Amino acid sequence: MTMHIPEETVDEIRQSNDIVDVIGEYVTLKKQGKNFFGLCPFHGEKTPSFSVTQDKQIFHCFGCGKGGNVFTFLMEIEGFTFYQAVQHLADKKGLSLPEGFQQQQAQGISNEEQMNLKAYEWLTKLYHHLLRHTKEGKQAYQYLLQRGFTDEMIKKFQLGYSPQSRDVIVRFLDKKGFHSQHMVNAGVLTTNDQNQTTDRFRGRVMFPIRNHLGKNVAFGGRTITDQEPKYLNSPESNLFQKGKLLFNFDLARSSIRKNRQAILFEGYMDVISAFQAGITNGVATLGTSITESQARLLNRYADTIIVCYDGDKAGINASYKAARLLHHIGSNVKVTAIPEGLDPDSYIVKYGTDRFQHEIIDASYTYISFLMEYFKKDYNLKLEGDRIQYIEKVIDELALINRPMEREYYAKELATEYELSIETIIQEISNRRKKLGSHQDKHRATSHTKNKPIFKRKSKLLPAFHNAEKQLLTYMLHDVFIAEKVQESLGASFNIDMHKIIVTHLYAFYEEGHDANISQFIERIDNKEIKNHIIELAMETVHSDVSDKEIQDYIRIIKAEHGDKATIRQLQEEQKKAEVQKDFVKAAQIGMEILEIQKKIKNANH
Ligand code: CTP
Ligand code: MN
Repeated sequence: MTMHIPEETVDEIRQSNDIVDVIGEYVTLKKQGKNFFGLCPFHGEKTPSFSVTQDKQIFHCFGCGKGGNVFTFLMEIEGFTFYQAVQHLADKKGLSLPEGFQQQQAQGISNEEQMNLKAYEWLTKLYHHLLRHTKEGKQAYQYLLQRGFTDEMIKKFQLGYSPQSRDVIVRFLDKKGFHSQHMVNAGVLTTNDQNQTTDRFRGRVMFPIRNHLGKNVAFGGRTITDQEPKYLNSPESNLFQKGKLLFNFDLARSSIRKNRQAILFEGYMDVISAFQAGITNGVATLGTSITESQARLLNRYADTIIVCYDGDKAGINASYKAARLLHHIGSNVKVTAIPEGLDPDSYIVKYGTDRFQHEIIDASYTYISFLMEYFKKDYNLKLEGDRIQYIEKVIDELALINRPMEREYYAKELATEYELSIETIIQEISNRRKKLGSHQDKHRATSHTKNKPIFKRKSKLLPAFHNAEKQLLTYMLHDVFIAEKVQESLGASFNIDMHKIIVTHLYAFYEEGHDANISQFIERIDNKEIKNHIIELAMETVHSDVSDKEIQDYIRIIKAEHGDKATIRQLQEEQKKAEVQKDFVKAAQIGMEILEIQKKIKNANH
């Protein structure tokens, strides 16, 4: 695959992009010893088993087994082709790729999608220009100002206006060479009753919607004259998947990571309003409930996620749903309570930034206290029967909390509020936990990687020769001289087939004059299984001062295994021959011999 891009270029790009920085943009990494650890972005988990090794420039997940170098990571997480990953990192460092390569990198998305992206880019500029600098745009511009947006925000979010006229956009796109049928498919033009192609967002304020790479992939158009619907959005497409995208994620990402906190809003307006107020870690879903994929995305960057939805009934119900999902995937969730049924944007306009920060964001409820409030709506707490049901329901939730301190804290709160003894509540909680306990264990056993302790796999006892091969391979991956030594005395005669394959690749790599470099080495391995295997080996610790004797010991153990295996094979042949010749005494004797050797191997391995 790398054929077209010179290896030196790929090397240069790899070397100038530290894997810890690149992955750090997606995963919150904490240093632990020599490695960095974080929550694996490729499978759901609550305890970090995803590790990044800086000196080897590789990543590996002990949970799901995925691993690779900086390019592989981007290919997995962004769905990039190798070319796109290289291009992406080159762009980042201002490096350029050789002529002729530029076309290749577009491979990942279709021509039509690429054209749409181009069209959106032009349209964003046009809509913004129309809003800011033309007569038609004046009313929309006034509308935004009156809603409290500054010029700076209008520019930052590239807000725009699509004029009332039937075909300004039609003509503009035509002049730029975009085919009108394509633009209808792309959702920026539409066809009317008379089968004429017309503008789609006529008379609306335009909100460009960017994906997490900052590329415009859709528009939301808000009416300024109370038309229905309030928002008209681009249709979903491969580029624009509402369930995967979060509005403003690209701009909020670094702030979310820095604060380890994200704020989840319902509307575009809320995000922009908050941004203007200096709260830059806000994102929004696009008119739909938050999906698991969006929740996981946020959870990768933030320890705490504040659900800041509208204060009306619909908003509170939606908060409940969102909070539950976020809690379920392991986030520390908080939920705001906005008074008077206001939404965040109107609260900021009415009461100002400071009060929003202090009385809404900083004062947000913890997950459990939110639930305790929320459940109240279903009961008339003046009635004893209802009150008991309510308390039971809260206790059910408290039983799910894993930290004893937290459980006790809420138990106390409940006890005080309803004049119960704390002992009773604790007792009730513990009864439920016992029941849950057996259930949860069952659940845990079936839920594959989740909750699996890190490094569990390593504890499996392997035969001595298997361990020797692994150890030796690990050293060979780190040291050309060791590899050469092994090549001389063992060649590719490892017993495990996977190891044979790996050493063969490795010898070829070194023979081309490369130094030991795992990150570079795995680039040439196309097969994922082999690649992951190499990474796993590379993750083992190596001692820089390994003795020659240790290496020789490994070689000896590996050779002995061959020897024994070969002997057994030979004896089995003879045994068969004896059986054919009906010399059963001889066959039995040989059988004993085989058993002897097998016993010996077994003993040697333990
Ligand atoms: N939405 C939508 N289509 C609609 C209404 C809403 O896609 N017909 C989505 C938009 O993403 C919107 C979000 O749902 O931002 C929240 O809706 P709402 O609270 O009504 O909009 P706001 O962003 O608060 O806009 P405004 O303050 O102008 O009412
Ligand atoms: Mn609003």
